[in-house]
This record gives sequence, C-alpha cells and structure tokens, in this order.
Amino acid sequence: MGSRVICFGAAHVDFRAQSLAPLIEGSSNPVKTSRARGGVAGNVAGWLATLGHEVFMVTRVGTDADGTFVLDELTRLGVRCDAVMRDPDYPTATYTAAIEPSGELRLGLADMSIHDDFTPEQIDQALKVTGTADLWFLDANLPETAIRHLATRAPTSAILSADTVSVTKAPRIRAACPRLDLLITNEDEATTLLACDTAAAQLSAVEVLGVGRTIIGHAARGVTLLDHGSRSDFTPLPCNVVDVTGGGDALAAGLLHGILEGVPMADAVRLGLAAAAFAVESETPHPAGVDAADLLARASIQR
Ligand SMILES: Nc1ncnc2c1ncn2[C@@H]1O[C@H](COP(=O)(O)OP(=O)(O)OP(=O)(O)O)[C@@H](O)[C@H]1O
Ligand SMILES: [Mg+2]
Repeated sequence: MGSRVICFGAAHVDFRAQSLAPLIEGSSNPVKTSRARGGVAGNVAGWLATLGHEVFMVTRVGTDADGTFVLDELTRLGVRCDAVMRDPDYPTATYTAAIEPSGELRLGLADMSIHDDFTPEQIDQALKVTGTADLWFLDANLPETAIRHLATRAPTSAILSADTVSVTKAPRIRAACPRLDLLITNEDEATTLLACDTAAAQLSAVEVLGVGRTIIGHAARGVTLLDHGSRSDFTPLPCNVVDVTGGGDALAAGLLHGILEGVPMADAVRLGLAAAAFAVESETPHPAGVDAADLLARASIQR
C-alpha cells in the first residue's frame, strides 16, 4: 500500500535541444528538439505516483496551453492536481536544455518567474486541499519565504525532504535546514549551500545546519550519503547514458520511495540509483512504464 506524499515546487515544460555535433558557443548549431513535462517537484511527483503512492502536486502554472499540458500529463500518471494554482499573469515555467551529442548537459536556461511570488498564503490554501501526508518534498524553485513557511508548517509526523535544484537556488534551502530530514543535492550545489567542498567539512556543515541526512550526487561517480555523522559512497549502476537530464530527480524519487517502504537506507539509495539509471538511459527525465518491481530488480534487491 502506497503512502501519501505532497510535492511542492516546479512542474513545467522542458525543451531539449540535442546537438548533432559538439556544441560551438556563439554560433548556430544543428539540433534535434523535443518537448516534455519537467520540473524537479513535478518529476518526483510523477515518479512517486508511478511507484504506487498517492501524490499531490502543489505548484503554479499559467492559464496557457503549456500549463494545461503539464497538468494533463501529471494527471495521466495519477498525480492529484487539485491544489495546483493557475495564474493568468505569468506564462507556465520552462526549462531549456542544450545537450551535447554524448547526452551531457552543456547549458540549462530556466524561466521560473511564475514561482517568484508563491506566497505563504497560497501554500496554506493548497494545504487545505491536500490534507496530511507521510512525506513532504520541496524544491528550491520556490522562493525562500515559501521554503521557510513550509518548514514551519510541516508536521513532525511527516518526513520533510528538499532538493537544491541548482547552484543559484541552493542557498534558499538553508531556511528549511533545521527541520529537514533529507537534503538532496549534487556536488556543486552542496559546495554552495554548505560553503565548503571537502567531504569532512561537508559532514560537519550539515550537522551544524541541523539536517538529518544528505545525499550528494556526483553524476557518473555515483552518490555520497551523509547520515548523522557517518559517510558512505555508492557507485552508479551500470547504464548506457543517453541524456543525463532528470537523473537527479529520479535519484530523489527512488530514494524517497525506499524510505517510504521502510527499507534499510543503503537499499533506499540503491533504489535511487536504479531510478537514475533508467532516467539517464532515456531521452525523457521520467521514462514511462518503470514501476516499483522494475526498480527492485534493477537494484538487485529481493523483497
Ligand atoms: N554520466 C552519468 N553516468 C552514469 N550515471 C549518471 C550520469 N549522470 C548521472 N547519473 C546518475 O544520476 C544520478 C544523479 O545525477 P547527478 O549527480 O548529476 O545529479 P543532479 O546534478 O542533481 O542531476 P539533475 O541535473 O538531473 O538534477 C547519479 O548519482 C547517477 O546515478
Ligand atoms: Mg538535481
């Protein structure tokens, strides 16, 4: 039986342009383009719904066709969108990625202005619709005031988790750290948020900030788990990289799924790595049709 989850943050449209030859800056490059639903919280919501949980999305989208597209896609996956606000004054957020032929990201461009005035009052309104949950996940596309408010509103009975999203936005998460059970970040974002870049310093920095556990993604080099003063490193599962976009969101979703299922933390991390492997092997951040049994099999976990 699945858990109840609320995902707060970005759900938007991802445009990807994959170059046919290595990208040349300041020049026109021939690319293959595509459009898909994206956004960190939206991707995590989609994954967790597919993995069997009851998931509510809390975000803002425009009244434009992109907003309708995003909500239709999330609803199709079983995500509850009744608490999503539609704002006629902004376009739905977009993320545009320039991808190398190898699948590596060269440049990401984020238009997230619709999230900038996401107010504490709007969050309270949304919470009236969603009711209680076992897990809250928020992303740093939300403004700092909203993140601080969510940290004060999260009941002690709920696991509070957060993703730093980007180097620029990572410092916003500091507002939630004392209440945070799980911080999900990558190497560069962790360096900015924690203001240090060695493993030993980061281990004590998260303790000082009051974070429960921290998972740091190192792309092709796997992940580090900082867990109440101890550190463990995990290598990625073997995979054929097509497009790394969404690897981090899949990692977050698989890990959260494991935590909700009550598996040991090392197995939860392996479920995260399994979801990430599926994501990086696919052109879309959230590949269709991957379910909980697929994750267990890929992570070689017997249940
Ligand atoms: N080049 C790669 N080769 C193999 N696995 C990868 C690669 N890039 C990402 N992954 C997988 O995806 C996980 C998350 O990627 P990463 O550490 O880059 O997080 P991120 O920067 O938050 O990603 P995102 O940009 O999707 O948010 C990695 O831990 C790994 O399992
Ligand atoms: Mg990430």
